Amino acid sequence: LALMLVLSACGGGQKTGSESDKNVLRVGTDAAYPPFEKQEGSGEITGFDIDVIKAIAEAEGLKVQVEHTGWDGLFEAVDSGKVDAGISAITITKKRKKKYDFSEPYFEAKQLILVPNDSDVSSLKDLKGKKIGVQSGTTGEIVVQKAFGKTYEGIRGYDDTPGAIDDLVIGRVDAVVADNGVVLDYMKKLPKGKFKTVEDNSFEPEFYGIMVKKGNKEVLDKINSGLKKIQEDGTFDEIYKKYFGQ
Ligand code: ARG
Repeated sequence: LALMLVLSACGGGQKTGSESDKNVLRVGTDAAYPPFEKQEGSGEITGFDIDVIKAIAEAEGLKVQVEHTGWDGLFEAVDSGKVDAGISAITITKKRKKKYDFSEPYFEAKQLILVPNDSDVSSLKDLKGKKIGVQSGTTGEIVVQKAFGKTYEGIRGYDDTPGAIDDLVIGRVDAVVADNGVVLDYMKKLPKGKFKTVEDNSFEPEFYGIMVKKGNKEVLDKINSGLKKIQEDGTFDEIYKKYFGQ
C-alpha cells in the first residue's frame, strides 16, 4: 500500500494546481479598442488581437483565458502575475521596455486625429488651444503632450478610447488622437459625413507587441514561437484579412 501511495504521488494522475496552469495562457486586455479588442456587455471578448493570441496559443498547444483588465489595469495585472501576458494594441515604446518585455512586433500603426468634418484642423499643431481627448497612458496622449507640453490644459484624459470619442460626438472635445486602426473603425460607425481624419507628418510608425513581465522568458519564448508559426503558415494573414481586408 505504501508503495502504491508513493507511486500515485509521483504522478500518472491528473495534473493539478500550478502544473496544469502552465497549459493555460492567461491574457489581459482593455477590451474597448475595436477592432483589436472589444466586448459587448459581459459577452465574449473578441477582435483581431484576440484571434491572434488564440492562434498563437493553439500553435503552442496552450489554452487561452482572456480577461478584460482595462488599460491601466493591464499593466498592473502583468506586474502582479495575475495574467501571463497582455495583448491590447500595445505600442512597444522605450519606456515600456524598461519594465516589460515584448514579443516581436506583429502590427504597424500610427496616430490619427479625429475631428468634426467642419473643423479647421489640418495638422497636429492646429490643435493648439483646443480640447483634445485621449486615452490616458497611451501613445495618443504622449504625442499631444510632446506637442503642447505635459501640462497643456486642453488635454482631456479618458480611461478608455470610446469615452473620448463619445465626448467628441457630443462636442465636449474638439478632437481625439488615437491609433489609426481604431479611428478608422469608428469612422464607419459614426454618422456619415460628420467626422474626418487628419494625419500629421510628425506621427511616427508604432509597432504593437505582446507584453509580458520583464524576464518572463518562458512565456515570451512560447509567444514568439507561436507568432512565428502563425505568420509562416498563413493563419496570421487570414486573421488580418478578416479585420482589415486585403
Ligand atoms: N497603441 C497605443 C498605446 O500603446 C494605444 C493602445 C490602447 N489599447 C487599448 N486596448 N485601449 O499606447
